[in-house]
Amino acid sequence: MSETEKHPVSIAVVGSGYVGLVAAACFAEIGHKVVCVDNDESKIQSLQQGGIPIHEDFLPELLERHRNSRIRFTTDLRTATQEAEAIFIAVGTPQSETGSADLSYVDAVASEIARSIDGYKVIVEKSTVPVYTNEWICRVIARNGISTDHFDVTSNPEFLREGTAVVDFLHPDRIVIGAQTERAASLLQKIYAPLTTGAYYDQSDAVPGPCSRQKTPPILQTSTKAAEIIKHASNAFLATKISFINAVANICEAVGADVEDVARGMGMDARIGPKFLRAGVGYGGSCFPKDVAAFRNVAELVGVDFALLREVEAINEEQKQRFFQKIRSALWTFRGKSLCVLGLAFKGGTDDIRESPALDIVRQLLNEGSKVNAFDPAAEERTREVIPPNAQMRYCSDPYEAATDADAVLILNDWPEFAELNLERLRSVLRYPIVVDGRNLYDPAKMAQMGFTYLSVGRPANIHHSGISTQDPQAGLYKPGATRGF
Ligand code: UGA
Repeated sequence: MSETEKHPVSIAVVGSGYVGLVAAACFAEIGHKVVCVDNDESKIQSLQQGGIPIHEDFLPELLERHRNSRIRFTTDLRTATQEAEAIFIAVGTPQSETGSADLSYVDAVASEIARSIDGYKVIVEKSTVPVYTNEWICRVIARNGISTDHFDVTSNPEFLREGTAVVDFLHPDRIVIGAQTERAASLLQKIYAPLTTGAYYDQSDAVPGPCSRQKTPPILQTSTKAAEIIKHASNAFLATKISFINAVANICEAVGADVEDVARGMGMDARIGPKFLRAGVGYGGSCFPKDVAAFRNVAELVGVDFALLREVEAINEEQKQRFFQKIRSALWTFRGKSLCVLGLAFKGGTDDIRESPALDIVRQLLNEGSKVNAFDPAAEERTREVIPPNAQMRYCSDPYEAATDADAVLILNDWPEFAELNLERLRSVLRYPIVVDGRNLYDPAKMAQMGFTYLSVGRPANIHHSGISTQDPQAGLYKPGATRGF
């Protein structure tokens, strides 16, 4: 029996969203006793009955494995606080009107925890929060009359990506612990010990991933402020990498070079690395747009003009517009056209449509009078809530149904199945063999060979006309005010 199985830590995770639910399931998976708290009664009821509110690989298996043994669900934060040694706050920190993070949910949860504390507790910020949030939580708790001997507030940022969240959590690149006291730091170290000692990876039913007994995740202990900044700075840096390669892609388009070659060449430099250099339709999701704005706001508040981040945001906005113009350049006009849209979520592997560039594009297409036949393997249900089906918007059950009689296919996110389409079949059902690919999933030469007009991002366009295929380095180039036929 492992040390954790003998002495599990009692953990409460407040918030059952993408981060909270995954963290709760993974803490149970590594042996702890977890209660997941949310004030949404219907969500908790559904979780208690075996419902899974989000699409995430391995999550159903973990919840099934630990439900009612190591993990349970409740709306009762008071009891959960009293029973827990560590309370992880994983509630939303949405963007406010000024771009700063709205911390009212964190504030409300901290106050309620304060009213329930009956002994020493370690309170852990798991949500992405701006620097100084730790101090604020301490103040809120102290204001409720709790002595500083009875609690510590730590920062333990989460770096998981949606779609691969469980693997990212259990096989992290690093575990960051921001703590002001050794007592608090050692509880967090104990919580993560099954990962940092490698004991978890020896289990025969462990979720597979890059870590192992030989390659355990490193733990970095810092101040709480540094931990808070690590999270914001990491997301802002990754978004910068994406905007950088998108700007480079636009240069590539202008001169007829292939951005995929350029990214490969850059990524071979170990100082740059190959990841997050995929040009596309711009970044989206619930994190990058919000966190870049929040970090810029933090900088402003402390008197630093982080102009670079404004540029990162501007490039991202322009990238979406450029892509829309690229579609226009393939179709000339939109009214009355029938378009097959593959991808609605902000990226493949998830059902999350928050800040999805794909939805921005769909809305613009609908505004311009096109008919949209959409397919996404997981995001249809969520999209239906914001864009209900009607005569203009149809949801389809597979890519070929969506492509039937369409004037073009638009690839708007990177589900693996979109890179493995049967191209013969696709071409045979389309009205015109046009593919505008926002994720560079296909080889332009192969697409030309197959008879497609193929436009992608940062690569020369292949214009297929009357059986003759030509490469036009300028065809994908956005010229404000201009439209281009083929
Ligand atoms: C991101 C970070 O990657 C996580 O480390 C972090 O924990 C998380 O935010 C968070 O703060 O909660 P996520 O938003 O799930 O994770 O998705 P990513 O895989 O990072 O993708 C973000 C956006 O960038 C997507 O729209 C994606 O399509 C785009 N992207 C990503 C590119 O356009 N190019 C790339 O090379 C990589």
